[in-house]
Amino acid sequence: MRVLGLETSCDETGIALYDSELGLLSHRIYTQIAVHAEYGGVVPELASRDHVRKAMPLIREVMAEAGLTLADLDGVAFTRGPGLVGALLVGACLGRSLAWALGIPAVGVHHMEGHLLAPMLEENAPEFPFIALLVSGGHTQLVQVEGIGQYTLLGESLDDAAGEAFDKAAKMMGLPYPGGPELSRLADSGNAKRFRFPRPMTDRPGLDFSFSGLKTFTRTTILDCAEDGVLCDTDKADISAGFQDAVVETLAIKCRRAMKQTGIYRLIIAGGVGANRSLRARLQETAAELGGEVYYPRPELCTDNGAMIAYAGTQRLLAGECSDLAVTAVPRWPM
Ligand code: KG4
Ligand code: ZN
Repeated sequence: MRVLGLETSCDETGIALYDSELGLLSHRIYTQIAVHAEYGGVVPELASRDHVRKAMPLIREVMAEAGLTLADLDGVAFTRGPGLVGALLVGACLGRSLAWALGIPAVGVHHMEGHLLAPMLEENAPEFPFIALLVSGGHTQLVQVEGIGQYTLLGESLDDAAGEAFDKAAKMMGLPYPGGPELSRLADSGNAKRFRFPRPMTDRPGLDFSFSGLKTFTRTTILDCAEDGVLCDTDKADISAGFQDAVVETLAIKCRRAMKQTGIYRLIIAGGVGANRSLRARLQETAAELGGEVYYPRPELCTDNGAMIAYAGTQRLLAGECSDLAVTAVPRWPM
């Protein structure tokens, strides 16, 4: 089965072609960073308009690279939610109508299910069951995954998502948008021990997270360091390193706890923050200490992409699921 996947939930247009026998045939990710940079965050209306501009040309590129035409498709998958409603509607309208015109089924996929299954696109894919750490700009969740569609939420952030905390801390230091990757780059040259950031909610049982305290600690640290409101490069690097270390250690403590609690020692990391090298290294150590294994998608499949939607959609279509003709987007949608 050959399925076209469309991801348009936020500021990346991701288009991919997945074959259930041959794997990922081709994919493209167009990021709107340049469109939103001058506003310091995603402007929903501009995001929708840019998806409209880019989706069809990218579909043509993906089909051409695979040496196929639209007539060779067996299904279309699009992100149905959660995300920005206008942006989601672009992918939903396009995906639904394309499938209707081609006389093939379409399926609306949950964005986080896409992230959660992204490691299945790699050669060394994990077997079920596994524990998934989903860390993106909108979510921080620990999920027990028994199979496709069999997900149990073990814990989640009670306030900011990990990626959101990275972005907000970066913004406070005046780093360019998007802040997460930039903060992480600065952290490489910083001293993580200079400021002792808290490890929120690690001293009590449970698998929930809270990252808003780290934001407050970052703000007060910046106020303490800044001279005339300006931070020097060393301060920025040290704050970045201390902040990143706190997030990474907090996530690692909860992952260890989740593995011990469930007795499942296969861990996957997905979502944009999964591209963070320090997090990957720390979780590798944590799993190794417990005799477990860590799986993660290549960095470009950690952040938003069409391949994860094409993969999740293929599994849903193979199970006989498909969406009706109504075009729906679900901006808030628990998994
Ligand atoms: O999964 P994703 O692309 O979009 C959402 O579904 O939210 O994740 C984006 C988030 C942003 O908050 C971004 O700052 C963060 O992932 N991110 C990172 C890194 N790369 C992306 N955070 C920390 N370190 C990185 N290397
Ligand atoms: Zn995402």
